[in-house]
Amino acid sequence: MTDRDATPLTPRIGEPAPDFEAETTHGILRLEDFRESWLVLFSHPADFTPVCATELIAFAGAREKLRAMRCELLGLSVDSVFSHIAWVRSLESRFAVTIDFPLVADVTGEMARRYGMLMSAESPNEPVRMTYVIDDRGIVRAFSAYPMTTGRDVGEIVRLVAALQATDAHGVATPAGWKPGEPVLAPPPRTQAMAEERAKAGGAACPDWYFCKKETS
Ligand code: BEZ
Repeated sequence: MTDRDATPLTPRIGEPAPDFEAETTHGILRLEDFRESWLVLFSHPADFTPVCATELIAFAGAREKLRAMRCELLGLSVDSVFSHIAWVRSLESRFAVTIDFPLVADVTGEMARRYGMLMSAESPNEPVRMTYVIDDRGIVRAFSAYPMTTGRDVGEIVRLVAALQATDAHGVATPAGWKPGEPVLAPPPRTQAMAEERAKAGGAACPDWYFCKKETS
């Protein structure tokens, strides 16, 4: 069995995101509907549950920031569209938020299966908290999986999208905990000649041949 066979239905970083045509609270949506933008696709175990509620509220709070980064949001669970509508109405009235991003009603679990969101040891039929960052070419750029009992840090997801976009815009890598506006890192040299060049640059920005900081602005 190859490594690929072990998790045949989980999209990997750098691969095209699986196509979908899904019933959502905003009508039928397809992957191609998001081609003009980046997409954060996130699954949650179930509507009307407390951790999921805090996550939806947090995603709603990050909505404008993500929009400014040309990034859309799409939630998913195996609940029906009627359940989603009722839950969104409840969240909006109880927590004074606006949930204006769509939620997929994946009642058959087909889309969750294609995206590797069902992990039977955690739950036989409810998705775990999986997050995919898909770029504007439909390529999976990052993903994470959290268990049912742990809510995600939506600020970290926003930071991740910003870091990926900075990498694309400037051809750089971003250090641990990087935030927009902070120095970035030159990708490591892959030839001796490049290493020599970096070593010669020296100074505070380049303390060693493999470690060179850069400004993006
Ligand atoms: C929750 O969102 O609170 C939750 C959902 C499923 C299992 C455990 C917690």
